[in-house]
Amino acid sequence: MTEILNIANLQAWYGESHILHGVDFTVNAGEVVTLLGRNGAGRTTTLRAIMGLTGKRSGSVAVHGVETTRLPTHRIARLGIGYCPEERGIFSSLSAEENLMLPPRLKGGDKAFSVDELYVMFPNLKERAHSPGTRLSGGEQQMLAVARILRTGATLLLLDEISEGLAPVIVQKLAEVIRALKARGFTVVLVEQNFRFAAPLADRFYVMEHGRIVERFDQSQLEEKMSMLNEFLGV
Ligand SMILES: Nc1ncnc2c1ncn2[C@@H]1O[C@H](COP(=O)(O)OP(=O)(O)OP(=O)(O)O)[C@@H](O)[C@H]1O
Ligand SMILES: [Mg+2]
Repeated sequence: MTEILNIANLQAWYGESHILHGVDFTVNAGEVVTLLGRNGAGRTTTLRAIMGLTGKRSGSVAVHGVETTRLPTHRIARLGIGYCPEERGIFSSLSAEENLMLPPRLKGGDKAFSVDELYVMFPNLKERAHSPGTRLSGGEQQMLAVARILRTGATLLLLDEISEGLAPVIVQKLAEVIRALKARGFTVVLVEQNFRFAAPLADRFYVMEHGRIVERFDQSQLEEKMSMLNEFLGV
């Protein structure tokens, strides 16, 4: 198994606030891994720390074996990471297609989707290609945010709460997309509050609490872990 991401004793701060207290986890090529946790557990901060978007951080984050804790964000992204933040970052003054074309293609990104392929995967976006970002529904904006990172050729996807607040039909569509990406060899870290969305997709699960990983298990152990998860997350 090829390790795509190896995080060891990752600590992170926002100003004086010490948020991550030694996070450890690994993600192998082609896996879908989900990070579960209560509000404020530190899941978004973990993704931001991987990208170098927190304040100070320490410990180790290796991406394809390259230590990244000293690299600036744009260099980290160039290692093939596509980060989809919770706030999506769709530019309201640009059309859907202009948003899609915004981030540059990564060098050697041979898994990059073409715009045509993305329009096959997300037919709604094709219809909305010339609408301004603000005119898109929440679901369309979320699809656009995901499509945009696929166009870059990133193969390690960090997705923060992509199902949040969306209609069931869109959530189902996003689940299909993640399955299709996994089938094409992409590696996905899913941060999700929506357990029912994440559970069937994930090969492995990590549970965070107070800036640490407190539980780890794989899909085959899901049933026996349900009472713990229920207690922890109310799922
Ligand atoms: N910019 C910031 N400055 C200071 N503290 C922050 C900042 N962002 C988050 N925090 C704090 O860090 C902790 C972890 O927040 P984080 O956003 O990582 O949680 P989370 O697991 O993603 O939860 P959720 O998305 O459900 O709120 C929280 O206590 C939060 O208040
Ligand atoms: Mg969050």
